[in-house]
Amino acid sequence: MDVFPVNQYDPLMPGIVMAAVAITHVFMAQFAVGGGMLLCYFQWLGMTGRSEYARLFVHGYFKWLVLISFVAGAATGVGIWFTAIQVSAPTIGGMIYNFHWIWATEYLFFLLEIIAGYLFYRYHQRISDVACLRLLGMYAFAAWMSLFLINGIISWQLTPGGWIETHSLAAGFFNPTFWPSVFFRTIVALTLAGLVACVVVNTMKELNQEAKRQLINYAAHLLVPMALMPFLGAWFLFAMPPDSRGWVTGGTPAMTLFLNIAVGASLAIGGYALVGLYLQKLYINGATATLLLLLAFGATAGGEFVREGSRKPYSIRYWMYSNGIFPDEVAQMRKEGCLVNDPYPLRDGTEVAGEITTRGAKVFRRQCAVCHTVSGINGVAELTGTWDKDQMRMNIAKLQHTKPFMPPFAGSAEDLESLVRYVKWHEERNDEVAEAPYEEATLTMIQKWLDDAGTESMSQPGKTSDEVEIEDEKGDQ
Ligand code: HEC
Repeated sequence: MDVFPVNQYDPLMPGIVMAAVAITHVFMAQFAVGGGMLLCYFQWLGMTGRSEYARLFVHGYFKWLVLISFVAGAATGVGIWFTAIQVSAPTIGGMIYNFHWIWATEYLFFLLEIIAGYLFYRYHQRISDVACLRLLGMYAFAAWMSLFLINGIISWQLTPGGWIETHSLAAGFFNPTFWPSVFFRTIVALTLAGLVACVVVNTMKELNQEAKRQLINYAAHLLVPMALMPFLGAWFLFAMPPDSRGWVTGGTPAMTLFLNIAVGASLAIGGYALVGLYLQKLYINGATATLLLLLAFGATAGGEFVREGSRKPYSIRYWMYSNGIFPDEVAQMRKEGCLVNDPYPLRDGTEVAGEITTRGAKVFRRQCAVCHTVSGINGVAELTGTWDKDQMRMNIAKLQHTKPFMPPFAGSAEDLESLVRYVKWHEERNDEVAEAPYEEATLTMIQKWLDDAGTESMSQPGKTSDEVEIEDEKGDQ
C-alpha cells in the first residue's frame, strides 16, 4: 500500500506545526470541559441562594464558552485532523484503525454536548432553574466524557502497555498513563475555567466591585484541586517508559526545559490561586487574570511538548516509529529500499534536478522530515555542518546509536548515499559531485555500518535511558 508522504513546511518542521495546532486545540477543549463544570457550580450557587449574582454570571460566561468551544474549538479540532494527516498519515491511520469505536463514541458525546449547549443557549431564560441545571449537567458530562475517551487514545500513544502483546482494546485504552492523565487533565480543565471566569467577571460592567469580588472568590474554588497536581505529575512520570522519563528529567536539554516551564508556570498559577485568591480572598483585575491565563497556556504548551517529544523515536510507542515506519518493516526496507511505496512527486521537485538528489530528497521526506528540516529548524545540513561525508554516512547508518531517540535507518545503502549527497548538495549546490555514479567501495562500507547498527531501536520495553546510553557506547566501538 502506498504511504501518504509527510508535508514539509520548511523552515518549520512538521512536528512543530502539529504541536502548535494541537496545543491551541487542547487548550480550548480543556477550557470547554472545565467551563461546563464551572457553570454547573455557579448555577447551583444561584439556585441555593449562596450568590445573588451567580445567575447573571452564568448568562455572561456561557456566551464566552459557546464562542470559544463551539467556534474556535471546532475550527481547531478540524485543524488537528487536517494537520495530522499531512504530518503523519500512518499515525493518525493507526489511531483510527485501533480505536474505531472509541472515536465513534466520542463523536456521540460531542453531539450530545452541542445539543445540550445549544438548548441551554436558546432556552435558559424561559425554563426552570432545575431544567437549566440538568442541561448544564448534561453539557458538562458530555464534554468530560469526550476528554475521557480521547485521553485513552492519546495516552495509549505514549504507553500502549499490555496492548503491545494482546492488542486488546481495553488494555490499550486503560493503559498505564490513562488514569494519571485523565485526572491531571480534569484539574487543568477546572483551572482554565476558573481563570477564564476571573477574566469574564472583569468584563461585566453590570456588576459592582463587591459582586465581582464575590464571584472571583467562588471561581477560585475551581483552582483548589491544583494542589493535587504534583502527585498526579509524579504518578504520570512514574508510569512513563523508563527511557522517556530519563530524557525529560535531564537526558535531553530541550525536553527537560519544557518540563520545567510546565512545572514552573503551574506552580506560579497554583501558588497565586491558593494563597491569593482562596486564602486571602484577594480581588484580581482583568489584566492579571489574563496574565495567569497566558501562563496556563505556557504550562499547557510545555506539558504537551513533553508528552509529544517523549514518544520519540515512536509515534505509537514500540509499535510505529515517528516517521510512520513499523519496526518489523526495517529489515525488509534495508533490502528493498524505502521508496517502493512512495509514488508521490516532491513538493519542490523542480529544485532538485538529478536522479540521485531526487532520490535523496525522497528518502529524507520518508525517514527524516517529521523531525527535521534540511536547513531550517533542527536542520540536518546544520547538524552535520562540520562532518565530512564518511562521518555522515556512518552516523546516519547508525542513526539509533547516534541518538537513541531516533529510529534505525530503514533503507538500502544506495538510499543512504543518495540522502548524504542530497544534504551536501543543499549546501554546495554542486550537481556534478551530487550526481556522480555511486562508488562500489562506498556502498560496501555503508552496508557494513548498517549491518553493525542492526535493525532494532535502542528504545525497547523496560529499558532505562542509562541502559540505552550504555549500549550506545558499545555500538560505537
Ligand atoms: C523521531 C524524530 C527523528 C527522526 C525520525 C530523525 N531524527 Fe535526527 N534527530 C532528532 C532529534 C530530536 C535530534 C537532536 C537534535 C539536537 O541535538 O539539537 C536529532 C539529531 C540528528 C543529527 C545530529 C546528531 C548529533 O550527534 O549531533 C543528525 C545528523 C540527524 N539527526 C540526522 C537524521 C537523519 C538523516 C534522519 C533520517 C534518516 C533523522 N535524523 C531522523 C530526531 C529525529
